[in-house]
This record gives sequence, C-alpha cells and structure tokens, in this order.
Amino acid sequence: MIKAAGLTFIVAVMAACSSLKNNRQEYKEPYRLQFHFSPKAKWVNDPNGMVYLNGKYHLFFQYYPDSTVWGPMHWAHAVSKDLMHWEQLPIALYPDSLGWIFSGSAVYDKDNTSGFAKDGKMPLVAIFTHHNPKLEKAGRKDFQYQSIAYSLDEGTTWTKYAGNPVLKNPGITDFRDPKVIWYAPGKKWVMTLATKDHVTFYSSPDLKNWTKESEFGQQSGAHGGVWECPDLFSIKAGGKEHWVLLVSVNPGAPNGGSGTQYFIGNFDGHTFTSTSATTKWLDYGTDNYAGVTWSNTGDNRIFIGWMNNWQYANRVPTQVWRGATTLPRTLELREVDGAYFLSAMPVNTFNTLRQKEVRWQNIRVNDSLDISAKVKNFKDKFVLQFKTTTLADFAIKLSNTTGEQLIVGYDKQTNSYYIDRTKSGETSFETGFAKKIVAPRISQSGNITGKLVIDAASAELFADDGLTNQTAVFFPGKPYTALTLLAGNLNMETLSYAPINSIWP
Ligand code: FRU
Repeated sequence: MIKAAGLTFIVAVMAACSSLKNNRQEYKEPYRLQFHFSPKAKWVNDPNGMVYLNGKYHLFFQYYPDSTVWGPMHWAHAVSKDLMHWEQLPIALYPDSLGWIFSGSAVYDKDNTSGFAKDGKMPLVAIFTHHNPKLEKAGRKDFQYQSIAYSLDEGTTWTKYAGNPVLKNPGITDFRDPKVIWYAPGKKWVMTLATKDHVTFYSSPDLKNWTKESEFGQQSGAHGGVWECPDLFSIKAGGKEHWVLLVSVNPGAPNGGSGTQYFIGNFDGHTFTSTSATTKWLDYGTDNYAGVTWSNTGDNRIFIGWMNNWQYANRVPTQVWRGATTLPRTLELREVDGAYFLSAMPVNTFNTLRQKEVRWQNIRVNDSLDISAKVKNFKDKFVLQFKTTTLADFAIKLSNTTGEQLIVGYDKQTNSYYIDRTKSGETSFETGFAKKIVAPRISQSGNITGKLVIDAASAELFADDGLTNQTAVFFPGKPYTALTLLAGNLNMETLSYAPINSIWP
C-alpha cells in the first residue's frame, strides 16, 4: 500500500514537472512571435469585437480550436491592460444551430438601449455574422445573417439573443462582418456591413431592429475581390471632423492577395460620401488583413489587423498555432499636398517593452554598417529607428549563417519602400511568397524617418511617421543573427537599435 502510494506520488510529481516544463515551452516554438499576440495553439484569423472597458482592452478573434487550418469559426477571447501583454481567456462564442460565428464587433451599451442590462450592470453587446454551412451547401444565397449576444461580466460569458438573427439576408452571398458604432448626433447605432462588392449601412435604436440606410462603394475603390470587414469611424484633423471607412478586399491588394483599403469623406448618419480621388491602402505589405479599430476608446483610434494573407494563411509553416495579430497601431489623419491620408504607428505602450537602445548620431554610410556587431547580444526581436538627412537609396539587411536574408529598403529612383523576402527562408509553401513587396512613398519631405519592428518572423515598417507602412511575415530556417545597413552614400542624422522584451511569461 505504502509503496503504491509512494509510486503514485512520484508519478504525480513527474506529471506536474512535465506540465510545468510544457508551460515553459509555450510561446517558444520556431517562428513564435514574442511581442505580438498569437493564440497558445490552433488557428486564428480576423480580430473581432474589440472593445475597451474598465481598464481592459478586449480582443476577440476568429478561432478554430480543433485545427491549425481554418474551419468552423468561434470567437476566442484575449484581454490586455496595455495592448501588449495578453491573457488568453476561454472561448466566448461557439457555433450553434444558426451557424458558425464569423467576424463582427462589440459595443458597450452604456445607456442600455438593448434592454439587456441587469441589476445595474450595463451590457457588452457583440454583433456578429452567423454563417450557416448547411444552407450554403444546399446552394442557397442567404446563408449569412447578423446576430447578437450580450455579456454582463465584461465579456467572460455571453448569452445569445433569443430573437436571432437580428438582420436577415436579402439574397446576397457575401453578407457579413458587421461593425457597429454609436452615432451620437442621430442617437442611434450604425452598422457597416460588407455586402459583396460594396458596403451597406443600417441603423438601429436598440441593436435588435435594423433599418437599411444606404450603400457605398460599387463604383469606388479596389474591386479585385470580395469586400470584407469594414469599419466606419470619425477622426479629427485640421480642426475638423472627417469620416474614414476601412474596407478589406480579398484578393486584389497591391502586392497580391488580401489587403485593406480606406476612404476618407463624410457621413451624415445616413450616407457616406468619399472625397478620396485615388485608392488608398492602410498597409502596403502582404500581411495586414481584416483589421478594424477598438470601440469605446474616445478620440483614440486604435487598430489591429490579422498578420497574414488568405493567399497562403492555411499553409504558413508553423506547427502548434497558425496566425497572429499586427502590433496595435494608433491611427491619425495627416495632410500631404492638400489630400488627407491615414497614418498608423505602434501604440505608445509599445515603448514599455524596449530595452536600452544603442544610438548613433550624424553618421555617413558609404558601403555597409554592421549594426549587429556593434550591439551586445544581438537578437532578432528589435526596433530600429532612423532619420536620414536626404533622400538616398538604402537597404537594411537581416541575415543568418545559412545565407537566408530579409531586406527592407528605400529606392530613390522609384521613390518607393520595399520588403524583399525572396531569400528569407522557408518559402516553398506558396509560389508567390518569395518576392519583393513594394510600397509607394506618400510623404513629400526631403528626408526619411523610419521605424522597423522585427519580431523573429514578422517585419513592420512604419515609414515617414506611419504614412507608408508595410507588414510582412517570413520564416527563416534559423534565426537571423546579423543586421547590416547598406548604402552608397547616406547621411543618417540618427540611428538607434533597441531589443524588445518578450510579452510571454
Ligand atoms: C475575413 C473573413 C471574414 C469572415 C471571416 C471568416 O478574413 O473572410 O469576411 O467573417 O474571415 O473566418
């Protein structure tokens, strides 16, 4: 008996040790990003239902708990106090008899317009698409419709509304991704919905009854693929209120596959009118899709995107999980030569992850500058900031001992930025992956201010204070161990390198 008990005890201790070890190994797999959110395991795509409440940023996301490829969608849940450190919580919304849970948004119904409040607790209300695979298989067109759910415990548990769906499908095959805002002048909720090749606006007094207001976009913007995940919000610039409409499109992005375009204009509670003369893109990289902004953050517009591309998302070479989000970014409107553009920069709290920086001032690069040789313990997780004194070609090269390399640079002749992942490592999972990704320069200033954020397997370039951005993922066989700046004749006013701490415990 005693022997048996002893053995049981030893087995229990061994099991505990091994689970501790497993815990420690989490987030340490090859290609695991160290300061971007990704789930512990399995498939993730679009960020959903982002809402700020009582000091916490909620991030729900498209999730399939049974596989690392896309499947029946759930809303998983993570929460953060600083938009950097995330805690993954239990799944918020499971598929049900009405269908899988596709993308959507969440709002804090502080005035209880929905009537879901109880005992003085105001509800969070999620507005999402039910995607019914049975109806789809049966060849019907109306297999996507909008439903709601509410939470009275800050998003931990959710109750689906008994009257779902709240918005039926009029016979449009792509009828999804509701993004809801409170339109204060009209004292009503406004939903922006992706409806195939345009968006449709609806309004509601109570989140349950929706009336169609108008449509936008059939004749505007990029139409290389279906429109998805729209977001309409107001933003102040030049002492005036402007309205911005984000619309993801897949395929049809400037560098292939999925991308997010935007329109700037006016919204009067019924109709959106665009004043943009050209198609504008939020990010010229290959890997920033389906991004939208947090609700309930006042004038602070915080955006996050899915750092992937439908062209290859199901095949990227990670094992335990698949997919991640971009850095959360603050959006602003900036005027360039009489036209407005969105700028996006990492949120301020990103700076709290920075270790001590190494800084150079007024240096001339005539051939190459080996940055990694000049810093202690170079790691492939860092932010490199630079300011040139003129416009001149340069390339920032990351490489490893097997000759794999990622090059981020500026080309003066074409006045464009680029991320070249042609030889970046594992690229065989998709023929179009190994390529140079190009972005036009929007700023007209005579020098370049840039921030390049590298996190093991992702690159985010914020050029000209976020006017031209590029996000791209890559998969080196071994971590990059060298960082070199290449230029023919370049004056750097400032250059700094700072390692970034991991957000994982
Ligand atoms: C965008 C998207 C959405 C849809 C969701 C399904 O990436 O296709 O339109 O709701 O993903 O997972």
